[in-house]
Amino acid sequence: MQKGTQQMRDWDKARKACESIKSDLLECNNSLWAIEKFDVTEDDSNWFNLQERIGGFQGGSVREIKIGTYTRLVRTRKGSNERIYSKTVMSDTTAETRDLLPLARDAKGEVLIGGLGLGVAIDLVMQDKDVKHVTVIEISQEIIDLVGKHFEDKHGDRLTIINADILEWKAPKNVHYDYCWFDIWDDICADNLKDMTKLKRKYAKKADKKGFWAYGECLRAQRRWG
Ligand SMILES: C[S@@+](CC[C@H](N)C(=O)[O-])C[C@H]1O[C@@H](n2cnc3c(N)ncnc32)[C@H](O)[C@@H]1O
Repeated sequence: MQKGTQQMRDWDKARKACESIKSDLLECNNSLWAIEKFDVTEDDSNWFNLQERIGGFQGGSVREIKIGTYTRLVRTRKGSNERIYSKTVMSDTTAETRDLLPLARDAKGEVLIGGLGLGVAIDLVMQDKDVKHVTVIEISQEIIDLVGKHFEDKHGDRLTIINADILEWKAPKNVHYDYCWFDIWDDICADNLKDMTKLKRKYAKKADKKGFWAYGECLRAQRRWG
């Protein structure tokens, strides 16, 4: 088979895996985090997709959301005025799972993931028999307490979750990663590029290949707004 045809097939397989992945976490919460189910109606979907198409800063890739029921991870915070502020940091909408395409295509062997979140990235790579073991580095002990056991029970010895800051964590000397995926940011933003450069350097020799959530979109944001 020609190289180009093989590449097309790899992308197609990865795209199908990303489109079909759904979180199986049940609703739960603690003082900092909540797992919630939510519906995307036809109006929500049309509005979101229209905004995506007319550009925003991404201009290039289109992240669309289909109608359906989804799961999201929400960070809650009490403001100084005692009001509760909440922010969705990850969901299994089609727009978010589409962002995992590079991971679905390239992950194999020994994999390192920065950011546990909703664990969608874990479930996605674990479907692939070529993935032998996944190490997840997560900065928030509270999120590990909330969802960690669910994934450890599900994936057994193939998964290790460590509470640490991926920007500072020192990987064991005797381990080499076939693929690293970094997804530690709440939003797509040019500022993320600083962390990405740091992680690229940090794992230059330690990993064969690296992927970063929404890297292209962050670059486009930088080009547009500096
Ligand atoms: C967007 S979520 C990750 C989503 C995840 N990839 C998934 O599939 O559900 C970002 C996660 O990264 C974590 N995080 C943020 N900064 C971090 C850091 N410096 N090191 C490790 N984890 C971090 C957050 O606590 C959060 O759980």
